[in-house]
Amino acid sequence: MRITDTSDLWWKTAVVYCLDVQTFMDWDDDGMGDFTGLAQRMDYLHDLGITCLWLMPFYPTGDRDDGYDITDFFGVDPRLGTHGDLVEVIRTANDRGIRVIADLVVNHTSIQHPWFRSARRSKDAPFHDFYVWRSDEPPDTSDQVVFPDAENSIWEFNEPTGEWYLHHFYKEQPDLDVTNPKVRDEVAKVMGFWLQMGLSGFRMDAVPFFLDTVGGDQKDFPDPHEFMRALRAFLGRRVHGGVILGEVNLPHAQQAVFFGGPEGDELTMQFDFLAMQALYLSMARADAGPLAKALLDRPEVSPDNQWATFVRNHDELTLDKLSDEERAEVFAAFGPDPSMQVYGRGLRRRLPPMLDGDPRRLRMVYSLLFSLPGTPVLFYGEEIGMGENPELEGRMAVRTPMQWTDGPNGGFSQAPPRKLRRPLTTGGYGPEFVNVADQRRDPESLLSFMKLLIRRYRECPELGWGGFEVLDQPHASVLAHLCRWEDGAMVAVHNLGPEPQTVPLTLEGCDSSHRLEDLLQERSTPLDEKGRAELALEGYGYRWLRVVAEGSRRLL
Ligand code: NOJ
Repeated sequence: MRITDTSDLWWKTAVVYCLDVQTFMDWDDDGMGDFTGLAQRMDYLHDLGITCLWLMPFYPTGDRDDGYDITDFFGVDPRLGTHGDLVEVIRTANDRGIRVIADLVVNHTSIQHPWFRSARRSKDAPFHDFYVWRSDEPPDTSDQVVFPDAENSIWEFNEPTGEWYLHHFYKEQPDLDVTNPKVRDEVAKVMGFWLQMGLSGFRMDAVPFFLDTVGGDQKDFPDPHEFMRALRAFLGRRVHGGVILGEVNLPHAQQAVFFGGPEGDELTMQFDFLAMQALYLSMARADAGPLAKALLDRPEVSPDNQWATFVRNHDELTLDKLSDEERAEVFAAFGPDPSMQVYGRGLRRRLPPMLDGDPRRLRMVYSLLFSLPGTPVLFYGEEIGMGENPELEGRMAVRTPMQWTDGPNGGFSQAPPRKLRRPLTTGGYGPEFVNVADQRRDPESLLSFMKLLIRRYRECPELGWGGFEVLDQPHASVLAHLCRWEDGAMVAVHNLGPEPQTVPLTLEGCDSSHRLEDLLQERSTPLDEKGRAELALEGYGYRWLRVVAEGSRRLL
């Protein structure tokens, strides 16, 4: 492997930024964000340093699940613009070295999709077999629904045919039947279409549900993973360096299967939901143990694959993989009021309010995010420390418009406030206090800090490519880890607790000809003849240290 390989497997050192066009920037002042507004903000994203934009669904929608219920897989929601406007966005991004991927939501359609409208009319209607049906009364499946506040079964009765159709999500999102070869062909065609428009890949929604063959005809389709491999191969044929970033919230061992095992020929990347949940438990306990364990438990993956790390996304902060007691600890620390919780498993808050706005703690968490092995994914607004609007329903609380200025509508739109797609965040995290314009001018702002982290992350290929070790040291609240790749190595040390700590470290294979160069501040720490050093950390302190040998040509 050479440093130039980082351009071939670009996703291993990418910085991904997720946004929803409808809430990012409104350029025609109708209250709804649009592609033109996004294109206008491309230089902001470039300046931030991101290298991959993930667009949440921008397709025509039944509007039941904020765009995740699609009525036309080949269309663009006219409220956001046209196909032409999207192409302009992609070209503007590409010109600035930013690739664009988009949500691919093919586990289900909207109930209003023409396929389902046809399918539900009669058993021999065209497209009937695109969906999953049963004609006998379904058993109790209330424990399998994803949205327990709205649904109590994954089967919904359809009057005209006297059958029930499958829907893992809302009843307005009927599941497609991937055992049907015609459905599989359509999925590939959808991918091919958007790749031709210039996308570099997809964030694939709900992958385990998508590949699930419940109720389908399994005799002609024994192995769903063969289908996943076929889609990955198809993507590779259509687009050089195309990626699929899969949403698979399952234990690590099962995620390994979705990567395609040692071959690595299924999903390119997967979110590490386990490490994310462990991070919150670690923060709640001021004990780095759970996070360290989750990271060490990651299965070995092929060099072509990658873990995507994140702190927050557009959904609830799910804590479903923690035990009941662990989840209760995280709830108590970061969202004790039942109104902050959702579905009994997650929190509908953004990070800064969860940390009571403590800037030290907030910076420590993002320093940790960018120093963990993997590809970091940001959710828009995290870079400025946006909060949520608790008045909004369920998960929508964290999907408020981007805050550009302290002016009307936070600079998101010049429409009258009542016409905005969604109300803004209010209170101490609203645009008056948290906005891009103020933070751009302030070298001490969170935004400036995030830019520094992104720059350093991009300069440290060890983080995206390297092997990972947890270093021994005596403090439970501290995570000290080392990433090593080729002749480069870097150590990151994070204190998850409020007390200052002095951290003794021993770096194997190092001696007094090595030193540690601080990458976030101007400081250098010598190592002794046994490769030992003591590092001072403030409460919630963090340090990134490059291991430098005498005569090294590394740029610091
Ligand atoms: C996962 C998405 O992240 C979520 O927002 C959506 O509601 C479901 N999949 C259904 O598409």
